[in-house]
Amino acid sequence: MVKVDLSGAASFMDLNALDYAAAAAAHRSLLDGTGEGHEFTGWLELPRRMQEGELKQIINAAQRIRSRSRALVVVGIGGSYLGARGAIELLRPIPSENDPKIFFVGNGLSPDALSDVLLQLGDMDFDVNVISKSGTTLEPAVSFRIFRKLLKEKYGNAAKKHIFATTDSSRGVLKALADAEGWECFVVPDDVGGRYSVLSAVGLLPMAVAGIDVKAVINAAIKEFEALSLQSPDNPAWQYAAARQQLYRSGKTIEILGCYEPSFRFMAEWWKQLYGESEGKNGIGIYPASVEFTADLHSMGQYIQDGPRTLMETIVSFERPNVSCAVPFEMADADGLNYLAGRDLFDICATAREAVRAAHISGGVPNLGISVPARDEAGFAALVCFFELACAISGYMSGVNPFDQPGVEAYKKNMFKMLGKPGI
Ligand code: PA5
Repeated sequence: MVKVDLSGAASFMDLNALDYAAAAAAHRSLLDGTGEGHEFTGWLELPRRMQEGELKQIINAAQRIRSRSRALVVVGIGGSYLGARGAIELLRPIPSENDPKIFFVGNGLSPDALSDVLLQLGDMDFDVNVISKSGTTLEPAVSFRIFRKLLKEKYGNAAKKHIFATTDSSRGVLKALADAEGWECFVVPDDVGGRYSVLSAVGLLPMAVAGIDVKAVINAAIKEFEALSLQSPDNPAWQYAAARQQLYRSGKTIEILGCYEPSFRFMAEWWKQLYGESEGKNGIGIYPASVEFTADLHSMGQYIQDGPRTLMETIVSFERPNVSCAVPFEMADADGLNYLAGRDLFDICATAREAVRAAHISGGVPNLGISVPARDEAGFAALVCFFELACAISGYMSGVNPFDQPGVEAYKKNMFKMLGKPGI
């Protein structure tokens, strides 16, 4: 199970006075299905449902793609994209020779970005996984039309075998298109919102194509959700939710999520959407930001140490490294680094982390620690389950519905009107 360390926040609040009663009530209403937005809590059961349902089909499709294609183009945005990218960059930051390259498109409207992908794709054999629950989101819909045309030109009538659609089980434009064209389909469940969907086919198909062991992910997620059902202040999700709500009430309105593994960058993007879209409503909500350490200590370190004292910091760490790498000894010691010779980079990094933590705490930034044993399938699954559950609990504790996103419609209305979409 994920471990939470609140000791770095002890000088900012009374850890014995955290509102665990509110966390317990929030957790209970989530499990009982009595909270607002309860029709979107299917993610709690998702790992088990996947194990009994689509997982085999996902693995089969991934094997087919891996055996015939050198690339998978994943078309999607927001919750239909960030989880898969977070997982793949975390667990397979550099694809091995046998792994297809995964390209992410449809997450913006930049012609330059699209043309960069087309250039890299060149004449590679490729498949497309289009992911959209609604089927009407502009960015992926436009990109998908372009890649559909490309597939048709490349493979003719066989193009349909190269398209995999992850969408609603029965409704929407994409589902209708898929049925008419005969594309293989995967389901975004009705009771799971985009930002909670990474453990469905939305995340699992691209992950499996990238060579991630999705069976191991699902098995670990089942265990993690079981462990997180604990009804006690020992539950790490309660601890994290209660601590951040308490800090928010004391004026810490911005939470920076940091990690010392650069491969965590897109997991932080996934986390930002999960927390930002779930909590930022009705004029309240912690603003989720992210940093990559140690790199950002040389850019954002000044602000964190010395800027407005509205920050809290949450640091994700992995307890053991995947490789070892010792600093070499040099007789001349011209760079003066022999005091580190023989020490592993992982230990040096751990010391840096402790030093930064102490400096930021003394500068007025409370520090919450989150750790998992390793940067592997189980660690990824544990982080996903933990962050999802803590987010829902934290949202309920703050009095919002953590499962809707009414605010994202405003820009869409304007944009479609200005683009001249019929009927708007
Ligand atoms: O979390 C969400 O609901 C959003 O981020 C959606 O996932 C995103 O807007 C994409 O929507 P769709 O999957 O319908 O294309």
